[in-house]
This record gives sequence, structure tokens and C-alpha cells, in this order.
Amino acid sequence: MSLFISFEGPDGSGKTTQARLLEGWLRQQGYEVVLTREPGGTAIGEQIRQVLHDRRNIEMDARAEVLLYSAARAQLVAQCIRPALEAGYIVISDRYADSTLAYQGYGRGLELDILRAITDFATGGLWPDLTFYLDVTPEEGLHRRRSAGGEWNRLDAEAMDFHHKVRAGYLALAEGDPGRWVIIEATQPVAGVQEQIRRVVAGRLGR
Ligand code: TYD
Repeated sequence: MSLFISFEGPDGSGKTTQARLLEGWLRQQGYEVVLTREPGGTAIGEQIRQVLHDRRNIEMDARAEVLLYSAARAQLVAQCIRPALEAGYIVISDRYADSTLAYQGYGRGLELDILRAITDFATGGLWPDLTFYLDVTPEEGLHRRRSAGGEWNRLDAEAMDFHHKVRAGYLALAEGDPGRWVIIEATQPVAGVQEQIRRVVAGRLGR
């Protein structure tokens, strides 16, 4: 049985850790799983990711930004996600199209209907079956990123106000489609967050 799961959340919400733990747990139970990330996940997508994250690209226009994320996503769906789902795999994506709605839509103020149309064009209308939103405040997320000492990208450098708009956007998206979204309080310890995620996934897999 194929299942498409995405993880969303602000920077520093622990998405990547949780996606990996879920992947390992599902594999242990004998499921075939593909874990991928956005932007990136394919050779072409990783090249686009470099352009998007380069801090020298501060003049990037918001529309150009949308199209670059969408181009990377189109490649990822065509090359990886759709074939995997057709082969019956569980696909886990660390970010997917909802990031465009949250960051470029709610964050930058681009029209949501247009973003949805561009996204449907890029993905052939493929949306996840299940989306986890790992919720932390922008302050907490930034604090975690700084202490982890990871990559500091072009979007991390945005003003706090931007990150607050993104979070409000995610919450609005989640509330608008409760059948797909599960909101998880991500300030709890890693194990507790993972436990909640596993329970929901097990339910979807009918176990
Ligand atoms: P990444 O290093 O993957 O961060 P994270 O660990 O938070 O996922 O950076 C991805 C950045 O790109 C993140 O700041 C969100 C942003 N983004 C968008 O603005 N729009 C999109 O469509 C996607 C996929 C990501």
C-alpha cells in the first residue's frame, strides 16, 4: 500500500530528525520506504537548491523563487516520488508543496490561488495523503538552529516578522484541511514527538 507523507514546519522544528526516525521504524516493519527532501532530492533539484540557498542571491525576485522551488519539485515528483508511489512504496518528504504556500504565499504575500495552480502544474496535482506540521515558535526554532550550528541559508536570514507570517500560514493551512494535516507540538522531547507520529501513521496503515 503506497502512502505519501510530508513533514512541514518552521526551520529548527526537528522535521528532518523525525522524518528519519519514521523512515527507520517503517523499514524495520518491512515497508519499502523512500525518504526525500525539498528543495533537492534529485541531482537537478540539488543544483537548484544551491541557487535558492546562496546568501549572495539576495536580489532574488519572489516569483523567480516560486518557480525555482517548483522546478525542483517537478523534477522530484517525476523522477522519484511518483514512480515510488506507483511501485507501492511509502514516500516521506522533508518539506513539500505546502512550504511554497506557507513561505511564498503567507510569508511573501503572493496569491495562494496562483501558487496552487503553479504547484498543480509542477506536480501533476500530487498532494500528500498525510502531512505533519511540527509546530514551534519562530524564536524557539531559530534558537535551536543556532545551537545546532547547521547551514544558515537565505531564508533563515529573513526578519522575524516573516517567520511569524509563515507559522500563521501553516496553522491556517492545517486548520483548513484537518483530514490531511496533523499538528504536533514540537517543543516536547524528540521521542514524544516520534511516538505521536508513529501512532498516526500506524492508524493510516491499518495496524
Ligand atoms: P532547508 O535547509 O531544507 O531547511 P529546513 O531544515 O528548515 O527544511 O531549507 C529550506 C528552506 O527553503 C526553508 O527556509 C524553507 C524554504 N522553502 C520555501 O521557502 N519554499 C518552498 O517551497 C520550499 C520547499 C522551501
